[in-house]
Amino acid sequence: MRVSSIAGALALNLPLVFATPQPSFQSKCEALSTSFHADDAQVLVAAYVTAGTNITFPESAANTCPKFVISLADICRLRMNMTTSPTSSVIVEAFMPVDWSSKGQRSLMTGNGGLGGCIPYGDMVFGTSLGFAAIGHDNGHAGDNGLPFYNKPQVVKDYVWRALYKAGRLGKKAINHFYTGKIQKAYYMGCSSGGRQGLKAAQDFPDEYDGILSIAPAIRYEGLSAANAHYFKIFGVPGDATFLTLEQWQKVHQMVIAQCDGIDGVLDNVLEDPMKCEPRPEALLCGPGESWAANQCLTSAQVGAIREFYQPYYGNKGKLIMPRMNPLTREFLGFRVTYGGVPSYFSEGWYKYALYNDPSWSVAADFNLNTYDYDMKKDLFGVSTYKTDLTDLRNSGTKLLQYHGLSDGLISSENTITYYNDVSRTMGLKSSQLDDFYRFFPVSGLDHCYTGDGAWFVGGPVQYSAPGALSIDPSDGALMTMVNWVEQGIAPVTLMGRKLINGTVMGERAHCKYPAKQTYKGTGDPDVASSWECRS
Ligand SMILES: *[C@@H]1O[C@H](CO)[C@@H](O)[C@H](O)[C@H]1NC(C)=O
Ligand SMILES: *[C@@H]1O[C@H](CO)[C@@H](O)[C@H](O)[C@H]1NC(C)=O
Ligand SMILES: *[C@@H]1O[C@H](CO)[C@@H](O)[C@H](O)[C@H]1NC(C)=O
Repeated sequence: MRVSSIAGALALNLPLVFATPQPSFQSKCEALSTSFHADDAQVLVAAYVTAGTNITFPESAANTCPKFVISLADICRLRMNMTTSPTSSVIVEAFMPVDWSSKGQRSLMTGNGGLGGCIPYGDMVFGTSLGFAAIGHDNGHAGDNGLPFYNKPQVVKDYVWRALYKAGRLGKKAINHFYTGKIQKAYYMGCSSGGRQGLKAAQDFPDEYDGILSIAPAIRYEGLSAANAHYFKIFGVPGDATFLTLEQWQKVHQMVIAQCDGIDGVLDNVLEDPMKCEPRPEALLCGPGESWAANQCLTSAQVGAIREFYQPYYGNKGKLIMPRMNPLTREFLGFRVTYGGVPSYFSEGWYKYALYNDPSWSVAADFNLNTYDYDMKKDLFGVSTYKTDLTDLRNSGTKLLQYHGLSDGLISSENTITYYNDVSRTMGLKSSQLDDFYRFFPVSGLDHCYTGDGAWFVGGPVQYSAPGALSIDPSDGALMTMVNWVEQGIAPVTLMGRKLINGTVMGERAHCKYPAKQTYKGTGDPDVASSWECRS
């Protein structure tokens, strides 16, 4: 007999049995202030937040970090202060959604960007919208700049790996304490510096994760810092004979399109294989009596600088410092950050405050090839993040999924291609064998982490905030592709990309797994994925 109401029970004269009331999600959340204990951490905030709430971060007023984020789920927000040494601490946040048990009981650690210092709230709320309990941290200092490293080696250590490692452990401990069930699978995702953090985990502590999404990683860190300084020195400052304005870069961009867009058989402003593109800047050279103002041409000093920019960068004794820059980018992020007349804050902040501890040091006056050698010799706390033996990762059963935009103008995708091939040689494994635990997808038409002229939207870190992104089905996005690989053994052969322009999907392309090449079949609408195939 089924008794469906209290009235029914009374009518039938049955005993009334009430279950012990479960504390509500909200009160359980708020109780974390006193119920959750960790030796190295103190709870700062434990608050229930409903979907749609504007969560604000007044502590970011003094820096460039996000000032607010709109919650995409009903969550418990836990903010903690974690001590990592007598002279360093990390702010750690866990966003734990109500809807977790039915969504696979997963955790998601999110990665930082640049010189760290900003908690990746955007990626955290994206994760909670898919039912992940998301963890984020500030990488051991507030704000995306290098000053906090000054005479603070423990803060540098947090930035390089320790904040990630310890915040991950603390976050998981909090999640396991908060919910009735335990974490079933742990994931990581991050782009740029966050991509480097993902590879750091893959190289040094793969057991912490079941799946790692490492995007456009800032690995070969010393090489990247040196290349960014080098680009600034090639072009100099406004007024120098070698300097190019943004308008002139836009002209260079058109030149690259004119010279290289047809290589893949389709004129769409997208290069499927930028390594085949060898820009010839002499095409823009002014003839006698010609000028930029009258003829939109460039001087031989400018043309020489562009030619040097598109070369690989070699150091003392012919060592490769950094593969060459990608020849095409829409967003001109490189111009804005590294060669637009101001030295990259990324290089300058690292050299000044982490490497030399000398605020008077500057890229403009002091950078040369010996800077790179010294940085490499120190390799502070293993920041290069370029170990090519991933045996521990393989043995742990952890999956590593990577993608890198082929029009990334800040970190060349050739760097990730080189890393993949270095791993292959070091481990003596061909691609079909690496496939068991490491898969890499070059994404044409994607700039640095997000935006681009191609099918750049692949459902990865930093991408969700683009207009229209949340209306795209996340099930074939990079994050859930990773989950399906880990939990169901569905190993990805392609990575679906969408040409998301101004909030509208204008086309699709299924990006190929390296080393297969995206190849146009010769007929059909290039914005339809089936007009292309992956060829080895
Ligand atoms: C969230 O709040 C902040 C601070 O009051 C405000 O600047 C921001 O515009 C708000 N965002 C939205 C989407 O309402
Ligand atoms: C975090 O703890 C450290 C000491 O380990 C302290 O210096 C710092 O001010 C604390 N930060 C916050 C936001 O409470
Ligand atoms: C997208 O919007 C920008 C700014 O409004 C506009 O210049 C551009 O033409 C638009 N692109 C497309 C493909 O509609």
